[in-house]
Amino acid sequence: MTLRLTWKRVIVTLVGLALAGLLFAWSGLMQISASSGHWAVTDWFLHWTMQNSVRTYSTFQTPAKVRDDTALVSAAGHFRQACQVCHGAPGHRPSPVMQSATPPAPDLAKVAGHYTDRELFWIVKHGVKFTGMPAWPTPERPDEIRRMVGFLRALPAMSPQRYEELTAPRPSSAPESAPPLARSLAACTGCHGSDGMGREQSDIPIIAGQKADHLYHTLRAYAAGSRQSGAMQVAAAALDEAQMRALADHFAALPGLRDVPLAATHPLLVGGDRRKQLPACASCHAPGRKAPYIAGQHAAYLTGRLEAWQGEETTIDAHKPQVPMPVIARRIPADQIAPLARALSQQQTAPKREPH
Ligand code: HEC
Ligand code: HEC
Ligand code: HEC
Repeated sequence: MTLRLTWKRVIVTLVGLALAGLLFAWSGLMQISASSGHWAVTDWFLHWTMQNSVRTYSTFQTPAKVRDDTALVSAAGHFRQACQVCHGAPGHRPSPVMQSATPPAPDLAKVAGHYTDRELFWIVKHGVKFTGMPAWPTPERPDEIRRMVGFLRALPAMSPQRYEELTAPRPSSAPESAPPLARSLAACTGCHGSDGMGREQSDIPIIAGQKADHLYHTLRAYAAGSRQSGAMQVAAAALDEAQMRALADHFAALPGLRDVPLAATHPLLVGGDRRKQLPACASCHAPGRKAPYIAGQHAAYLTGRLEAWQGEETTIDAHKPQVPMPVIARRIPADQIAPLARALSQQQTAPKREPH
């Protein structure tokens, strides 16, 4: 018997197959239990598809610079709070609960080498659909993702001791170690140090001595997602109101930043620029005013804040309270941001002590 291929027959066959697929899905016989795992061929196919997709998209959807090796502490600290539970880390096994997922998260010390920096950046930023692999909490912080790529590259050679040194909570500086402080402080000191000085990492701000109200409102903003930082959004999401208050009061009371007038180490600080309608920084960042302390703050952190505001779109929204800094930051000439941050960071340096 010969079967002639006609359009009609092709269409009937395709519709039949689609109906059979629907019938199978409807019947409930499709095995979706994680415990049954994937067949080896399914596993291979899914991973192959994922790797091809990552290769293609990472070519077009990544910025020019995708890796930063200079600031391991905040990236390692974020890995500990957000990735270790699934992937494990030097000296730490992943949670058995997470390893029972299909697919289980791989040991990144072993597989990171299979990807280019660009591909790692893309995966960490976007996550992987149909697996537990989450996207970065905010799309606005490529600088944080660059630091994570630097950390993933360092991971294969990292000893458990080195990982602890980078991430472990520092000894508590809370004298009265009373709840709600004691429970939450350990989650901060791995990055900020028990002295709140940021462990000499330029991207981690000094919070010691900062205004308690600024620290408290900032923690609320991170938790609500209105201030963007993958690391801090995760850290703040775990806190309740009482803990935020207690932590803000605790760090504000430590010796660090101080309430002193800004010195004129850069023309814009005290003079402003009338032609650009740029008010002097000292008109708000001054003793007795509400704005946070910025003199003596880490330069890279200041630069990052000002550059992030410069990049933000001017959205005039009647429902939003009008905050001054994005408007002011956009009027600072781009080539003056780094010198301005440097001039600020060198002022009234906080008391020198052994870093914790
Ligand atoms: C809820 C569990 C979970 C968390 C949390 C998680 N991952 Fe993953 N991750 C996975 C799974 C599952 C895969 C495997 C995806 C696949 O097979 O395609 C994966 C894959 C990856 C890969 C690609 C490796 C590969 O070959 O599949 C990288 C890189 C990675 N994760 C980094 C991270 C980083 C960095 C973090 C923290 C910011 C993180 N992951 C948090 C579950 C998780
Ligand atoms: C993984 C490292 C890490 C952990 C853990 C961490 N922080 Fe941070 N923190 C940072 C970094 C990095 C920044 C700068 C973020 C930015 O650019 O907005 C920051 C910023 C802050 C700020 C804003 C300071 C300012 O001047 O506006 C506050 C307040 C703060 N952290 C408090 C805390 C508290 C309280 C905890 C513990 C619950 C904590 N952090 C845990 C790394 C961390
Ligand atoms: C009109 C008042 C005003 C002026 C003028 C002003 N600021 Fe601010 N600044 C603020 C306020 C209010 C905040 C707190 C904003 C927030 O928490 O989101 C702030 C925050 C900042 C921060 C972030 C501090 C932190 O800990 O995260 C930096 C950096 C900063 N200002 C730099 C400057 C510089 C540089 C100038 C001068 C070019 C300047 N500001 C002028 C009101 C002002």
